[in-house]
Amino acid sequence: MPIGVFDSGLGGLSVLKALKAAMPEQAFVYFGDNAHAPYGTREPEDILAKTRAALDILWRDCDLVILACNTASAIALRPIQTAGVPVGKNVLGVFVPMIEALAERPWGDTSPPSRVSLDRVALFATPATVASGAFERELNLRAQGIQVTAQACPELVDAIESGDRARSARLVHQYATALKETLPEPQAAVLGCTHYPWVAADFQSALGAEVRLISQPDLIAASLKDYLIRHQIPGDTGTDRFLTTGDCHAVSLQASQFWGSNLPFENTL
Ligand code: DGL
Repeated sequence: MPIGVFDSGLGGLSVLKALKAAMPEQAFVYFGDNAHAPYGTREPEDILAKTRAALDILWRDCDLVILACNTASAIALRPIQTAGVPVGKNVLGVFVPMIEALAERPWGDTSPPSRVSLDRVALFATPATVASGAFERELNLRAQGIQVTAQACPELVDAIESGDRARSARLVHQYATALKETLPEPQAAVLGCTHYPWVAADFQSALGAEVRLISQPDLIAASLKDYLIRHQIPGDTGTDRFLTTGDCHAVSLQASQFWGSNLPFENTL
């Protein structure tokens, strides 16, 4: 079966790109809830309801779905897993691979938290992700002694989705400056939103070359590949599909600026 990849909009394409590079034969169904993006400024109950609705659609064709959206992973993953998913279906978030990398441990290692070499880490994410505290909670389960300073970036997803490069660069600079007022010398910065890899160069120049940027897509791809092997999940070599709740023509065009070519988005039924 294809693997589902869900995001509020087009940010998850940064993850899909890395997944396709790591597993070129594997088929994926991408679903962007563009009609309701951005999620990051919505209330938790609303994010949970919208993520559940998206999963119900993706689970029709996919047994495994990746929430390629930190906001959905932060708010909705735990309640959905705790309530129980339909038999034969599964959902994974995007926090854990990034945290396992920060905590310097192998994929899927559930041993008690250990001391690691980093101690000052910046987290850039949506307001909902920052407010949830989910990143710190998951990190504390795996690593000791890391001080995380979180910076919410409320307007950045809109600027990235609208393709306004000057505005997104300005906002990144503004959020990096605000972060540095609290944490003047971060050792590493986590781009905790799947939209942000598209403006990673702006983050690097605003923070300085000495700050190690932790960008999710490659980490997610490597950990998913490992997960599929560990759980003996066979691949599926069908055709990729692209679903949206938005205007499929507009979304296809918009997606081309991230993907490099038009993607044939269809509406969800
Ligand atoms: N790209 C998503 C994330 O990783 C959501 C952004 C949004 O919709 O606000 O958080």
